[in-house]
Amino acid sequence: MSCTILILYFFLKLASSDNNTQDGFLFDGFFKLGGSAEVNNSNMSSHVIFADSGLSEAGQVFYNRTFKFKNSTTAPVFSFSTTFIFAVVSNDPEFSGHGLAFAISPSNGIPGALPNQYLGLFNASNNGEISNHVVAVELDTDQDFQFEDRDDNHLGIDINGLVSVKSATAGYFDEHGHFKELYLNSGKRIQVWVEYESLNQQLNVTIHPIKKPKPMLPLLSLKRDLSPYFFEFMYVGFSSASGSKCSHYILGWSFRMNGQAEEINLSTLPEIPGVTRDNEDDAGDGYRKVQKMLAVVLSLIGGIFLLLLIFGALMISRRRKFIRVLEDWEVLYGPHRFSYKDLFIATQGFRDRQLLGKGGFGRVYRGILPFSNVQIAVKRISHDSSQGMREFVAEIATIGRLRHPNLVRLLGYCRRKNELFLVYDYMPNGSLDKFLYRVPNCMLDWKQRFKIIKDVASALFYLHQQWVQVIIHRDIKPANVLIDNEMNARLGDFGLARLCDHGNDPQTSHVAGTPGYIDPEIVQRGKSTTCTDIYAFGVFMLEVTCGRKPVDPRTSPEKVVLIDWVMNCWDRGAILETVDCRLGNDYVSHEAELVLKLGLLCSHPVAAARPNISSVVQFLDGAAQLPENVSSIIKSRDSSDGSSQGGVGKDEFPSGNVSIASLTFTESFASDGR
Ligand SMILES: *[C@@H]1O[C@H](CO)[C@@H](O)[C@H](O)[C@H]1NC(C)=O
Ligand SMILES: *[C@@H]1O[C@H](CO)[C@@H](O)[C@H](O)[C@H]1NC(C)=O
Ligand SMILES: *[C@@H]1O[C@H](CO)[C@@H](O)[C@H](O)[C@H]1NC(C)=O
Ligand SMILES: *[C@@H]1O[C@H](CO)[C@@H](O)[C@H](O)[C@H]1NC(C)=O
Ligand SMILES: *[C@@H]1O[C@H](CO)[C@@H](O)[C@H](O)[C@H]1NC(C)=O
Ligand SMILES: *[C@@H]1O[C@H](CO)[C@@H](O)[C@H](O)[C@H]1NC(C)=O
Ligand SMILES: *[C@@H]1O[C@H](CO)[C@@H](O)[C@H](O)[C@H]1NC(C)=O
Ligand SMILES: *[C@@H]1O[C@H](CO)[C@@H](O)[C@H](O)[C@H]1NC(C)=O
Repeated sequence: MSCTILILYFFLKLASSDNNTQDGFLFDGFFKLGGSAEVNNSNMSSHVIFADSGLSEAGQVFYNRTFKFKNSTTAPVFSFSTTFIFAVVSNDPEFSGHGLAFAISPSNGIPGALPNQYLGLFNASNNGEISNHVVAVELDTDQDFQFEDRDDNHLGIDINGLVSVKSATAGYFDEHGHFKELYLNSGKRIQVWVEYESLNQQLNVTIHPIKKPKPMLPLLSLKRDLSPYFFEFMYVGFSSASGSKCSHYILGWSFRMNGQAEEINLSTLPEIPGVTRDNEDDAGDGYRKVQKMLAVVLSLIGGIFLLLLIFGALMISRRRKFIRVLEDWEVLYGPHRFSYKDLFIATQGFRDRQLLGKGGFGRVYRGILPFSNVQIAVKRISHDSSQGMREFVAEIATIGRLRHPNLVRLLGYCRRKNELFLVYDYMPNGSLDKFLYRVPNCMLDWKQRFKIIKDVASALFYLHQQWVQVIIHRDIKPANVLIDNEMNARLGDFGLARLCDHGNDPQTSHVAGTPGYIDPEIVQRGKSTTCTDIYAFGVFMLEVTCGRKPVDPRTSPEKVVLIDWVMNCWDRGAILETVDCRLGNDYVSHEAELVLKLGLLCSHPVAAARPNISSVVQFLDGAAQLPENVSSIIKSRDSSDGSSQGGVGKDEFPSGNVSIASLTFTESFASDGR
């Protein structure tokens, strides 16, 4: 799986093709992103960044000379201007990479940056830091809610971090001032201008199809003094995270300080290997082409109209049948198999506008079933093992029969080639993480939080102990907890992690779950048990009470790992200091204390020390008291575990006394729990 290597192929046709003066250059060479080759132009410097043990890569190519951006450290930034032509060529429209960016950086490469959604510009720990001194224009083809991306086809001005200072859907304003959307990943060649005017301290970004003149109105215009972000000398270049199935190309680039960048000569643009001009040219450009198409289209319309009439009649009769199918008895006897067409219509063709979110397993779309008008959420999962798919579909029969007020109901599924669609009840309020982190003015009060914790505990109790089979959820976290109309919490995504296990490649059958919620013991044993869920639920309880992520690199060092912070505060006798400060004093302190202690107990590094879910439910309901020796058990973690961060624990625990003590402890749970 080779990804995102930013490589330079040089099709330098003429000796004069690179005109480098002191304050600018014109390069009409050819950058390719993806594939593997060596960079062999002395004027460029290229770097490859690996992550996920080599599975994903990002590439950077910088012009290997600095430009003087200001006269002294405090002086204003000079005007500069750059233009380049790029194309995103993808063999699979579903995977068109994360995007690329033009970057101005203090070094001729950005070490330590990450691929994927970080675009090879930043990483989780330095994202947003003023010490980065990186100003970039991102051409983003993937929506990352983490960085508040508006859609999956946008431009953004990024200053020191990936949450854009300003962003807009990709497109341009034509001569009449009408906005025309451009698809960055269409494979067409698109020209970009990034211009900064020193006098007005204004940064403009403009894009347009290469055959159109540069629009008068920029797409993005940011009024800001850039001098705090720039050093005197800076490098300019590109960074990209293209993914394995797509390539990013730069087909010409010019840059100039204190003046307008030289126009790129379109008649000498290099060809992209393997891409024929016909399908990559902007079809809308040629007037004659339009005429030709019009003739074809008109003659087709007649035929299509006739076909539509016939199909329409057929469909209506089919739909009628379909309404009946969703009756209660049908739901009772197991999940329904939906047709792809119905889901396609319901979600308006899986349009991005219908996208509710993206998870580890796939994208979730909102939809309305035709005729019955039932609102649904459709999860779209791709999977390349047909064996795994078969087993998974069999399991859906089980999962689809689970009924509990605190579980999101699985209405049915649909299979199409290597894709699986799961249809769930739609929860208009969205997921819990939205309430915790994303929506500022609908904060949950303590009563709601405590109820959510109890709801999830009750769902887990059902999965672990009340159903005929033990079902391990494997990915408990706020993003998988949905809030219904009455503010009840409902656990979603149960059983999905199994799909991961059925992967046909044992090398990549990784531990399912989300970093921060993964039981450190699972890393040793590689097998999920109900204890794994209890661990994640412990972290979940802490997270809901404290209103912050389990690992938050942005806070002071002693607070980064939530579990450790709560532990330390408890040691100081101030465990309630960790309660979400937004709650003020509006919480019930004995409940908060119970939840925090129970959270620590459940996220104990030694699985045997964790209570089972029925005990947890009893503690939360007040039907049983936490045992007296709970503090010594929880504190034994200090001797057994050094790093709970990211769920990657130490390889061994001093197993002897700790686990024996905890085993006897769990037994005593059972006796005084009932
Ligand atoms: C580079 O281009 C500029 C104008 O575009 C021209 O005046 C200059 O002579 C060129 N320099 C070289 C070294 O070719
Ligand atoms: C590097 O830049 C110099 C000066 O601008 C130019 O003469 C030379 O051809 C360039 N080298 C390559 C390999 O492009
Ligand atoms: C640079 O790469 C091009 C294309 O891959 C190749 O034709 C050329 O010989 C290479 N030049 C050097 C100096 O390696
Ligand atoms: C960048 O240029 C410097 C000298 O100007 C050279 O030593 C270095 O090898 C170049 N780096 C790359 C990656 O070409
Ligand atoms: C920067 O310095 C150069 C010469 O040192 C001078 O010509 C120029 O006007 C200065 N620019 C600004 C914006 O101060
Ligand atoms: C993040 O990037 C910075 C600078 O690019 C680097 O110093 C740091 O080590 C990186 N952090 C991680 C965790 O990779
Ligand atoms: C940026 O765009 C504004 C119009 O929105 C224009 O007035 C200004 O001159 C532009 N600046 C540059 C550097 O192109
Ligand atoms: C672009 O390149 C072609 C072919 O090399 C040349 O004939 C033409 O004059 C160039 N156009 C401009 C504007 O430089």
